[in-house]
Amino acid sequence: MSWYRNTVWFLKGLREYTRSGYDSASKHFVPADLEVNVTGRSFMITGANSGIGKATATEIAKRGGTLHLVCRNKERAEEAKREITTETGNQNIFLHILDMSNPKGIWEFAEKFKAEHKLNVLINNAGCMVNKRELTEDGLEKNFATNTLGTYILTTALLPLLEKEDDPRVIIVSSGGMLVQKLDVSDLQSENITFDGTMVYAQNKRQQVVLTEQWAKVHKNIHFSAMHPGWADTPAVRSAMPEFYEKMKNKLRTEAQGADTVVWLAVSPAAAKQTSGLFFQDRQPVSTHLLLARTYSSPEEEEKLIKTLEELSQKFKPT
Ligand SMILES: NC(=O)c1ccc[n+]([C@@H]2O[C@H](COP(=O)([O-])OP(=O)(O)OC[C@H]3O[C@@H](n4cnc5c(N)ncnc54)[C@H](OP(=O)(O)O)[C@@H]3O)[C@@H](O)[C@H]2O)c1
Repeated sequence: MSWYRNTVWFLKGLREYTRSGYDSASKHFVPADLEVNVTGRSFMITGANSGIGKATATEIAKRGGTLHLVCRNKERAEEAKREITTETGNQNIFLHILDMSNPKGIWEFAEKFKAEHKLNVLINNAGCMVNKRELTEDGLEKNFATNTLGTYILTTALLPLLEKEDDPRVIIVSSGGMLVQKLDVSDLQSENITFDGTMVYAQNKRQQVVLTEQWAKVHKNIHFSAMHPGWADTPAVRSAMPEFYEKMKNKLRTEAQGADTVVWLAVSPAAAKQTSGLFFQDRQPVSTHLLLARTYSSPEEEEKLIKTLEELSQKFKPT
């Protein structure tokens, strides 16, 4: 099955996820969707110092939004802020230093943020593909801690703040790579498998899609979406997938093309009219499963994901 899934997925990727895939999809975009002014609205973007996150931040800054850039490295974050401010002239850009693999730090950050700011749109963009099994200081597997648990805690902690605002949205930058994985809640920390970073990452990205669907069912006042940026030329792709990068470098999307659907989901009135909880690619909701790939999970498995994340997250919540 994994051979079948990987092959079908790669062929799909060559057609749709590449720059040429973007070029053909973008012929159907409605340019007016992004001709909006979002002055007065507040956006948080994790991993905003490079790649898709930075490109998203730049586009939102051009449209007047207040930006909260959440990054783990102070120097890289300050450099990105300087560049975005210079390019867009937007002065309402704020930096927050946070490691998304540190669950206690995320709870503390969110509590402080809630007391000081408002938030209309949360963009969970920070992500990693660590190719060896590495543990955080808390003993958590690093991909899981960053991609799944970090996203879960930040979003959960900020939901009450989002609920207070007009047209609140949560966007998760997932990946089409999740299509090759069926949700597996039996081994969230990859303790009992031969570790394969690509597959662990894909499993985390599947978990993000399931989380998006589950949150949308419960929090009706907030618009949730997950998305795939396509294959974009970013530092993460170069460093975590060097062979893929070498093979595909002439076919990859630009960072701005990868960010296009994130921006569309974050600012356009058109996106808010879509059903909450869907998975998007090139401004369109798309299936979360490949044909005949047997990746559907049961409601029990999906509930178990939420329950396990909730229990784990509570262990790190400051009292
Ligand atoms: N590029 C693609 O083709 C592609 C395809 C599918 C999905 N995605 C997703 O797109 C998102 C953005 O990735 P990208 O491709 O734009 O790569 P990128 O330029 O390397 O951006 C990743 C961002 O996440 C940050 N980050 C990673 N771990 C973090 C942590 N523990 N705490 C805080 N920030 C952390 C990175 O910070 P540092 O700069 O400090 O490392 C960086 O700002 C990711 O979620 C990725 O999975 C990308």
